[in-house]
Amino acid sequence: MSLNKIRPRRLRTTKVLRNLIAEVDLSPKDLICPLFVTNSKTEEIQSMPNIFRYNINDLSRRVESLIEDGITSYIIFGIPQSKNLQGSEAWAPDGVVQKAIHLLKENFSNILLFSDVCLCQYTSHGHCGTILEDGTLDNDSTLVNLSKISCSHAKAGVDYVAPSDMMDGRVGAIRTSLDDGGFSKVGIMAYSVKYRSSFYGPFREAADSAPSFGDRSTYQMDYRNRSEAIREIELDVLQGADIVMIKPALSYLDIIRDASNKFNVPIAAYSVSGEYSMVKAAAANGWIIEKAVTLELLTAIKRAGANMIITYFANDTQSLFS
Ligand code: PBG
Repeated sequence: MSLNKIRPRRLRTTKVLRNLIAEVDLSPKDLICPLFVTNSKTEEIQSMPNIFRYNINDLSRRVESLIEDGITSYIIFGIPQSKNLQGSEAWAPDGVVQKAIHLLKENFSNILLFSDVCLCQYTSHGHCGTILEDGTLDNDSTLVNLSKISCSHAKAGVDYVAPSDMMDGRVGAIRTSLDDGGFSKVGIMAYSVKYRSSFYGPFREAADSAPSFGDRSTYQMDYRNRSEAIREIELDVLQGADIVMIKPALSYLDIIRDASNKFNVPIAAYSVSGEYSMVKAAAANGWIIEKAVTLELLTAIKRAGANMIITYFANDTQSLFS
């Protein structure tokens, strides 16, 4: 056949046809909505328009309206009342995350709850684990605390714990503790590939979790590396991760694609705070069309191979999918 008889444009002629052959379909069920909970008053986060830290008493009302929009999965982040060296409020039975899990599970029967498991919001130094006297972060004593946090969330009724600390061996340690504690039904969504990224800036304002000295480059991944991501996922899958996550999303679509080609476990992508804030800021200036850009970027993350997307844009579901 002569080449000019082959016309790919024939597949683009009408909307019905384009919808019929579309390879990726984005819907609210693909999205996991982050929720920040606090004992203080409900407050909007300055660098993240329309994202709030919710007082525990305002949380159910918010979730009710998100459910009406079709959002049924949530990941909870806590802002503690006080911080200390160990970050012990993270595993307090009456901590703000534990209370939120309990409350939401009591009020809503059909939602899926994930909880972020980390220490950086809870420690006085803002690092994701136990800091030794010489200023280094100690891997194995941190595992003990991460296990305590995970079991306390499980006890409160969470469906999945999501460790975001990047310590070695934490998935295995948490799996063993959950099983020993009678929580074999609780799953693990591992932040397997978490890069040290400047796109987390607005989150650190939201969660008040910036490190007081140094940075996270001895535990979070170097963004120059690609094959290391595969190794990290392999290790987490071997240790029992049910879902693996790649974070951030937008600048890491190649990593999401590599992971989805290589592994047959569900893959989550976390479109992080900086990605959200950039879109909101450009839209507020009238430089981009917010809804169109948002749909394009979320669809691209799914096209890259993510089965689910953790995104602050879940709060905009009503306008996005109308
Ligand atoms: C906690 C944690 C962070 C994010 C999720 N869990 C911050 C960090 O590692 O510094 C970032 C999320 C975002 O930017 O939206 N370790």
